[in-house]
Amino acid sequence: MFKKLSEAIKRKPIIGWAIFGVVMVCVFLLGLLAASITERRAEIASIYNNKVRDIGEGIEPRSELWGENYPREYNTWKKTADMDFKSKHLGNVEEDVLETRPEMVVLWAGYAFAMDYKAPRGHMHALEDNRNTLRTGCPETDTDGPQPATCWTCKSPDVPRMMNELGIEEFYKTKWGALGDQIVNPVGCATCHDPQTMNLTITQPALVEAFQRQGKDITQATPQEMRLLVCAQCHVEYYFKGDGKYLTFPWDGGSTVEDMEKYYDEIEFSDWTHKLSRAPMLKAQHPDYEIFMMGTHAQRGLSCADCHMPYIAEGGIKYSNHQIMSPLKNVANTCQVCHRDSEENLKNYVYERQDKALEIRDRIEKELAKAHIMAKTAWDNGATEQEMTASLKLIRQAQWRWDFSVASHGASFHAPIETQRIMAHSLDKSLLAQLELQKVLFAHGVKDVPMPDISSKAKAQEYIGLDMKTLQENKDKWIKTVVPQWLKKAKENGRIVASL
Ligand code: HEC
Ligand code: HEC
Ligand code: HEC
Ligand code: HEC
Repeated sequence: MFKKLSEAIKRKPIIGWAIFGVVMVCVFLLGLLAASITERRAEIASIYNNKVRDIGEGIEPRSELWGENYPREYNTWKKTADMDFKSKHLGNVEEDVLETRPEMVVLWAGYAFAMDYKAPRGHMHALEDNRNTLRTGCPETDTDGPQPATCWTCKSPDVPRMMNELGIEEFYKTKWGALGDQIVNPVGCATCHDPQTMNLTITQPALVEAFQRQGKDITQATPQEMRLLVCAQCHVEYYFKGDGKYLTFPWDGGSTVEDMEKYYDEIEFSDWTHKLSRAPMLKAQHPDYEIFMMGTHAQRGLSCADCHMPYIAEGGIKYSNHQIMSPLKNVANTCQVCHRDSEENLKNYVYERQDKALEIRDRIEKELAKAHIMAKTAWDNGATEQEMTASLKLIRQAQWRWDFSVASHGASFHAPIETQRIMAHSLDKSLLAQLELQKVLFAHGVKDVPMPDISSKAKAQEYIGLDMKTLQENKDKWIKTVVPQWLKKAKENGRIVASL
């Protein structure tokens, strides 16, 4: 082969020059790459060496102080407060989901979510939204309910600080209202970073413990895995275990929708008893991480940060955009880093997957709400526990699958095939529940189940017996009286940077 080549060069010297040229270009490009790597290392080193403020070794929840050392990350993090973007179905604006999907009020009858449920906004709003939702009630004293301190867990770096102070178990046992003046900084630097090395770190004990129970050691995770696991501290399925309300991820037997259902069935866990159907229900939280892991992008080794925290180049400095939000705001720095395709096409890939999932979602919500109402009618007409067992089990299974597939908002893009599979089972089980209920209704001589008017949030809430006016008035009053006291105390104790 080399002989042939040298003969060819002898015949046509231009070939020799061409090879020489290609080699030189390659050497040049490799040089550039090496330079850019060294430059990036030097940048990071110089950023660390130029620390303006020592933030200590413990947990420092006040992101403003970290911001003095890392202004770019800090300034983009602060922009998670923005509410200026809407994609076809999601975005960073507040959206009242019960208003657009009133059937969900019926699906959650008897549970706090039936009062109030909004689509997520950016991390800066985490505490404000947690305080303002009707679900956290109006606790006046340290022992008032309705919620345990566990509800603060995925909202603030003050949580690991207080866990260090009180002990983990004691933290979860405390009432939510008792810590209102302590948990005051939203998801921030200390949630994901070690203050000395700036390495990514896990501050949520529940994630570390879930790994341990599966025989895995999270400290062995690679840097690329950490770009995913810092998000899995919160964007996961979880439940409050036992009377101590100990935050637990139900992954011991695996983390598919069926594995976790089995886990819950084995310990006979239910989040609440449905007010209409009396089925023992499960509430799926937001299994973003678990579902994402079953999609194409995870299988190709991507992490959440690859799309939700893209690199930005600014005057020769490259850093991670900390404005965590929909990647569709910024397709050029997210999808287009890897895909040579137009912005329009890339957005449409996302919308197509979402639209197809919504088609099935609409069907499930309608049929599942109907199943709950049919079950109520059966009870009202004298059905027995024994007659109802089979249909209530189907309702529990159908709703767990529905919630699992929709609660994480990103699932229909993160793992479209898995999401459609789960939804298909949900619709199937909703209709099977109706068939079972028909038999019971027939046995009790009921021929027709009149459907109530649940065409708006207000009508659906009235149907399930919620007195929204009183609930809202009490909450509004509480927000005006109790919350300012919490914040005042926090400022006096130096828990919040005073200028905020
Ligand atoms: C400490 C818990 C916590 C961690 C860690 C966390 N999140 Fe969140 N995330 C939340 C909460 C809570 C919300 C909802 C805030 C609200 O609506 O008030 C949220 C909202 C979001 C949203 C919706 C934003 C919008 O504009 O609608 C995205 C996207 C998101 N998170 C992605 C991520 C990614 C990616 C990571 C990891 C890099 C991550 N989160 C880490 C708790 C967390
Ligand atoms: C939800 C988790 C999360 C939060 C909150 C967070 N970061 Fe980061 N940060 C990351 C991830 C992920 C990376 C990328 C790390 C990598 O690529 O190895 C990163 C990278 C960095 C880096 C390295 C340089 C760069 O930009 O890639 C610095 C410095 C940094 N963050 C500072 C901060 C500061 C300051 C805050 C608070 C204002 C903060 N971070 C909040 C997850 C977080
Ligand atoms: C390949 C890119 C990609 C990766 C990787 C990725 N996401 Fe997403 N994510 C998206 C897209 C696209 C959407 C839909 C945005 C829209 O419709 O505006 C989304 C939506 C979301 C939402 C809902 C946002 C909202 O406004 O309601 C959350 C939360 C979220 N992702 C979290 C995560 C977490 C956590 C991970 C890692 C476990 C992750 N994502 C990994 C692309 C990605
Ligand atoms: C860091 C690189 C990277 C980023 C960023 C990225 N992708 Fe991908 N994407 C991949 C890889 C790798 C595959 C798998 C391709 C293959 O195996 O042929 C893939 C596959 C896909 C597929 C086909 C998946 C399927 O359903 O089988 C779509 C659609 C897609 N990406 C859209 C997007 C969109 C939209 C975004 C931005 C929100 C995005 N990607 C961001 C690397 C990336």
